[in-house]
Amino acid sequence: MNILVTGAAGYIGSVVTDELIRRGDSVIALDNLEQGHREAINPQALFIQADLADLPGLEGTFHRYEIEAVVHLAANSLVGKSMKEPRQFFQNNIVNGMNLLNVMLKHHVHKIVFSSSAAVYGEPEKIPIEENHATRPINPYGESKLIFERILYWYRQAYGLSSISLRYFNAAGASEERGEGHNPETHLIPNILKVAMGQSDKLPIFGVDYPTSDGSGIRDYIHVIDIARAHILSLKRMEATEGCEAYNLGNGKGYSALEVIEATRKVTGRQIQTIVCQRRTGDPAVLVASSELAKARLEWNPQFPGIESIVKSAWRWQKKHRYGY
Ligand code: UFG
Repeated sequence: MNILVTGAAGYIGSVVTDELIRRGDSVIALDNLEQGHREAINPQALFIQADLADLPGLEGTFHRYEIEAVVHLAANSLVGKSMKEPRQFFQNNIVNGMNLLNVMLKHHVHKIVFSSSAAVYGEPEKIPIEENHATRPINPYGESKLIFERILYWYRQAYGLSSISLRYFNAAGASEERGEGHNPETHLIPNILKVAMGQSDKLPIFGVDYPTSDGSGIRDYIHVIDIARAHILSLKRMEATEGCEAYNLGNGKGYSALEVIEATRKVTGRQIQTIVCQRRTGDPAVLVASSELAKARLEWNPQFPGIESIVKSAWRWQKKHRYGY
């Protein structure tokens, strides 16, 4: 199939692109390279540097290539930044995302896999979180993802657009070729690895006063390859069924920030100095997924259930790419 991947130079988009190419698909890899890295894009993909705000450019791409389905990952994704810059998040994640949907409809492309987030749930009332849990985002990032999911729902009703929204919990780990290289880096595992490599002195722990067993925030870390495979399975499902669906992607097990630090000490054999800091605004205490629905309907089976195997893969990549891409 000819598949358009938006955000293909990003951490998750680059691994999704690799998996699609491995399956034998032709990938049109779109990215504005604002946050992504050109080197992260599989050389077998056809790369187009473009922004979703550029409507004529988007039109041209759909006109030129016979795109059959879209995997949409391009977005702003840092929770903390969204608290300060909601305008940017709503513009990029919603308004520009709608450009994509409208051009898809114009060119009769009716299948989209959308990169959504656990952030749509907000502060959970019940753990593990199932897909029918109330969605009350507590930051503009989560709000933007939820609004886009709702748009997909109404586009299904009115225009017959089929969609699968994948609500990622905490993407982590690396494949052989691709890893996490954000700038600035705010995520827990790459930041711990920076301390392990001596590139920063101390890891800030954002809050040890949460109502959790050790006071630090609990998250459900899910390997980026497992996330990428869920996209392939979603495309496969959409070949057989039309609809508008949403699935959680997590391992169903939560690790506190302190437990992740401990696992990293074990994997790297290095000292990790830490410093306790204030909570970050917009951070919920606990996020753990129930992914039973994805397992049952997508036949998704995560291959990296434990934190150590996830950290190990990230460490291997980080050592090969000391300063990222
Ligand atoms: N943390 C630290 N120190 C750091 C970085 C993080 O203590 O240097 C803590 C955070 O407070 C949190 C946990 O480690 O408790 C994980 O934080 P990350 O920044 O790695 O990830 P988030 O949970 O904040 O966010 C990620 C994605 C979002 C997504 C969210 C939903 O970046 O896009 O998961 O699960 F919305």
